[in-house]
Amino acid sequence: MDKRPIGIFDSGVGGMTVLAQIKKYLPNEDLIYLGDTKNFPYGDKSKETIIKLSTKCIEFLIRQKVKMIIIACGTATSQSLEEVKKIYRLPIEGIIHPTVQDIKNSIKTEKLRIGVIATEGTIRSNKWQEELIRAMKEVEVINKACPLLAPMAEQGWTNNKVAKEAIKEYMKPFQNQKMDKLILGCTHYPLFCDLMKEELGNDVEIINTGEKIAKYLKEYLEKEEMENEEQHVGKSNYYLTDTECNFIEVASRLLKDETLETKIQKIDIE
Ligand code: DGL
Repeated sequence: MDKRPIGIFDSGVGGMTVLAQIKKYLPNEDLIYLGDTKNFPYGDKSKETIIKLSTKCIEFLIRQKVKMIIIACGTATSQSLEEVKKIYRLPIEGIIHPTVQDIKNSIKTEKLRIGVIATEGTIRSNKWQEELIRAMKEVEVINKACPLLAPMAEQGWTNNKVAKEAIKEYMKPFQNQKMDKLILGCTHYPLFCDLMKEELGNDVEIINTGEKIAKYLKEYLEKEEMENEEQHVGKSNYYLTDTECNFIEVASRLLKDETLETKIQKIDIE
């Protein structure tokens, strides 16, 4: 048993889609969420910058005495996970590996056509494609960067006219392609899931990485005997590096928690 909290970070509100799933699958765990809103967006920054920012987020979470860290950001996972794992001793996991393993374990044939949508930085890193092909030799991957979506999600523009037009445009490469799955390789994107379904229909499985991570985390904590007590009711604390943003409004809607604002603290990680 390990009563320490789990640390989770992202550039903004996207990682809250992962936190929501972790809360659902692991209701006994205490969570500490860090949204690096001051440095949002991560999606168009260089690998060097992402490594520096990830390091700052991780060190802040370590100071909060977390037992492990989930990088709830596709951009930071693809560009910094390998590097930070070499530096820190506590367990750190991102969104790519648990998702790919779950897909591999659930399929009957490796002959799949999988779409990946993510930020520019994630697509540039080629990490999803590499990991998917390593796990399932015959998989065909179609990548598409969707740079407008994370800023729109941060603004709460997830179901207006602009969002509908953007999703229509970004889904074009996947239409009439006999796609099996579409991986939401950026954690902001589940906020557009309904619009994507409208464009792609029901035959394409849309993969929310948050759910895969939560399942992975549950198994990992059990295996390592690191779960909190069964009778404990998990609580969450939220930290933002800047509060002059729409995080509170968007996240309150997502978590259906009107008291969220009272649980948020502004901090400096520089
Ligand atoms: N939610 C993040 C991701 O998964 C970050 C998006 C951004 O900051 O540009 O990539």
